[in-house]
Amino acid sequence: MKVLVVGQGGREHALAWKIQQSPLVDRVYVAPGNPGTAQVGENVDISVDDLNGLAQFAVDNEIDLTVVGPEAPLCDGIVDLFREKGRLCFGPDKAAAKIEGSKLFARDLCKDHRIPGPGYWHFENLATARAFLEGRPDGPIVVKASGLAAGKGVAVCKDNEEARLAVSHCLEQVRPGEGRGSIVFEEFLEGPEVSLITLTDGETIVPLEPARDHKPVGEGDTGPNTGGMGVITPVTLMPRVAQQIETQIIFPTVHAMNREKRRYRGFLYAGLMLTQQGPRVLEYNCRLGDPETQPLLMRLKTDLVPLLMATAQDKLETVDAPEWDPRVAVCVVACSGGYPGSYRKGVPIFGLNRIETGPDLQVFHAGTRMAGRDLVTDGGRVFAVTALGTDVHDARKRCYDALALVEFEGMHFREDIGISQAATRA
Ligand code: AMP
Ligand code: GLY
Repeated sequence: MKVLVVGQGGREHALAWKIQQSPLVDRVYVAPGNPGTAQVGENVDISVDDLNGLAQFAVDNEIDLTVVGPEAPLCDGIVDLFREKGRLCFGPDKAAAKIEGSKLFARDLCKDHRIPGPGYWHFENLATARAFLEGRPDGPIVVKASGLAAGKGVAVCKDNEEARLAVSHCLEQVRPGEGRGSIVFEEFLEGPEVSLITLTDGETIVPLEPARDHKPVGEGDTGPNTGGMGVITPVTLMPRVAQQIETQIIFPTVHAMNREKRRYRGFLYAGLMLTQQGPRVLEYNCRLGDPETQPLLMRLKTDLVPLLMATAQDKLETVDAPEWDPRVAVCVVACSGGYPGSYRKGVPIFGLNRIETGPDLQVFHAGTRMAGRDLVTDGGRVFAVTALGTDVHDARKRCYDALALVEFEGMHFREDIGISQAATRA
């Protein structure tokens, strides 16, 4: 069969890498892809927002399954469009993708269906949001722009003054469209975080292994939030907490979406905080996480393709549950100087081919491109190294030893992935 992966980041490189290992698959295309995906499949020069172009490609080339990585095409209705054209596309349709597309929708869903989340307040514009801050007692609060903002529309603020500054900054990060201009404030919660991604067709619910992202740019979880600087998986959860997550959050969310007539098919990502009072939903994403995907797929022993096909065809119950490599996987992202603020592109990358890759260690490209024969940077998160190890120290050593072979001007990464305070205090 022929598979098309839509996207161009590390997540999509990992997806293409895993999918091309399937005995069911003859060809993998990636649109638009990156120099890493070109090594495991064939890149197609169609951008992720050209939904008609992607659908036409799938029709012309008789693509059997299209797998969409990023949230924007899902929120824009790529799955609905493929359905109209008679092509199978994995992921939630537009109505279901709203769980990520609108933070307000997600918050209301939790409230209406008694799924535990932080208290929240919603304002339609800057003026009313500012007035709310004037009137509340001073203290920590979280500011979120309601629309899509590539992980940058959130500010955790220590007081009202910081929140006041954050409000306009958050809004600037949001892409035009639904929810632009609208702000959600959330009660500030504390505790370790965990990302739990679930595969579901709206009936059968298959949670993947828990993972922990490291969002802030700096060691010790300092500095502004990024799309994610590194991940460790698995995360050991107390059985009681694991059960609470399933019964209070994951199952109710899938059922709530059915009751809202927004049947959810695809990967449902729940960003959770494990507070003293129990697990709370910080956010939902309508897709796999980046970089969570990289270490998760390296630990996934099962063929991914039948799971994706069955989900898209509403028969996930017919497929065996996935099997996982019990080893620890650590993924560390190398970023451009200045990220998550402004950064330069086109900086030459040296030494990436000195890393010896194999089933236990992979380099997944993200913001890279070829400039003639040279590999250069082309984004904030440039590439990630993921390694499997017998324990966290072993996996970390393998990751950082590999990273030491690579160099580019301004390159930075967190040295504490897997052992940061946040990673260990669960
Ligand atoms: P989000 O994109 O909504 O997951 O937010 C990004 C990060 O901000 C999360 O991973 C948390 O570290 C932090 N965060 C989000 N919401 C809250 C909250 N209500 N309380 C405390 N921290 C939060
Ligand atoms: N790594 C967090 C995300 O993909 O949203």
